[in-house]
Order: sequence, then C-alpha cells, then structure tokens
Amino acid sequence: MVSIVTSDTAVRLSRIVDALDMNLYGAVHGGAILRLIDEAAGVAACRFMEGQMSTVAVDSAQFIAPVHPGDVITCVAQVNWSGRSSCEVGAKVTAQRWDRRLDPARHVATAYLVFVAIGADGRPTAVPGLTPDSAEAERRYREAAIRRDARSSRKQAIEVSRKTAGK
Ligand SMILES: CC(C)(COP(=O)(O)OP(=O)(O)OC[C@H]1O[C@@H](n2cnc3c(N)ncnc32)[C@H](O)[C@@H]1OP(=O)(O)O)[C@@H](O)C(=O)NCCC(=O)NCCS
Repeated sequence: MVSIVTSDTAVRLSRIVDALDMNLYGAVHGGAILRLIDEAAGVAACRFMEGQMSTVAVDSAQFIAPVHPGDVITCVAQVNWSGRSSCEVGAKVTAQRWDRRLDPARHVATAYLVFVAIGADGRPTAVPGLTPDSAEAERRYREAAIRRDARSSRKQAIEVSRKTAGK
C-alpha cells in the first residue's frame, strides 16, 4: 500500500480578518475561524489523497483566545492519522496584528477534523497509509487514534442509552 509521509501533508493558509468577520461584541465570529480551518484541513486531506475528500466530522474545535479585526490569522494543518477510508487532520490557528512584525503569534484555536475519501461512485474509498516522520507526528498519530476510539465508544454508549430508554 502507498504510504505518505506526515510532513508532506502540511499546509499553511493565512488571511486578514476585517469588520465583516466581526460579531456584536467586537471580536471575530468563531464561524469565520472555522472556515479557514476547514479550508486548510481540506487542502491537507486532498493532497494526502490526491483525490476528493469530504469533511465528515469536526471532532472538536476549541477557541482559546479572541481574534479581532486587523489580525492576520494563520492556520497550519496536517494529516495526523489514516484509517481505511478516513483520516484525521489537526489544525492550529495563530493570530498576529497585521502591522506588528515582532509581536509573538497568539495561539487562538485548535481543531481536529475527519475527512472521508470519496470514489467515482460517490461512496467511501481507501486512503493511503500515513508514515509519521518525527516524534511529534508519532504523538499526534497516537492521540488521533485515542480520539477515534472515544468517538466509537461515545456512539455505542448513546445507542445503548437509546435502546434502554426505549424499553
Ligand atoms: C462521507 C460519507 C459518504 C460517509 O458515508 P458513510 O455511510 O458514513 O460511510 P461509512 O460508514 O462507510 O464510513 C466511512 C468512514 O468514515 C468514518 N466516519 C463516518 N461517519 C463519521 C463521523 N461522524 N465521524 C467520524 N468518522 C466518521 C468511518 O469511521 C469510516 O472510516 P474508516 O473507513 O477509516 O474506518 C457521508 O457521511 C456523506 O456524504 N457525508 C456528507 C459529507 C459532506 O458533504 N461534507 C461537506 C461538508 S457539509
């Protein structure tokens, strides 16, 4: 099976946020940040597959610090883990004022998304393998597998709860 090296899937995407991205409290909408995350993560997934990938789940998204108009937000994303037809992409967003060269970038959001490869028939199809090529990449691979197991356990627990409630 073909295997892709983790660092070859890494993507960096930036945009400047402006007043159109603002919520009523003067900060930037979480949805505007999620859009950048989905775009960057989608590029990472599609480069990994070299084919069509659909977002099937946002496993989690954490907004760590507010973003304001005039910030340049940068999303770095890479494939963390691959399964049969799905893969997990991790994304980290930082922000920096547009006119400040020396300000440290603030970590503002982290998210994990699951993508599924779609074949010509519109159904899930096999993805390549993933080879972690650093200690960090190996840690992310292990942690992505923990999130996948947790999704599966949560789904089963909800099914059991619904069956029990239905009795
Ligand atoms: C992607 C899609 C074709 C998958 O169909 P499906 O019938 O759920 O497929 P399967 O049950 O065979 O699952 C395929 C893979 O997706 C994973 N998957 C499915 N639903 C998932 C979920 N909610 N969260 C995480 N992974 C999921 C499965 O674990 C499986 O992974 P594996 O092959 O690596 O083990 C279907 O859900 C779909 O069309 N969704 C809409 C996608 C879309 O339009 N996205 C754009 C954003 S709106």
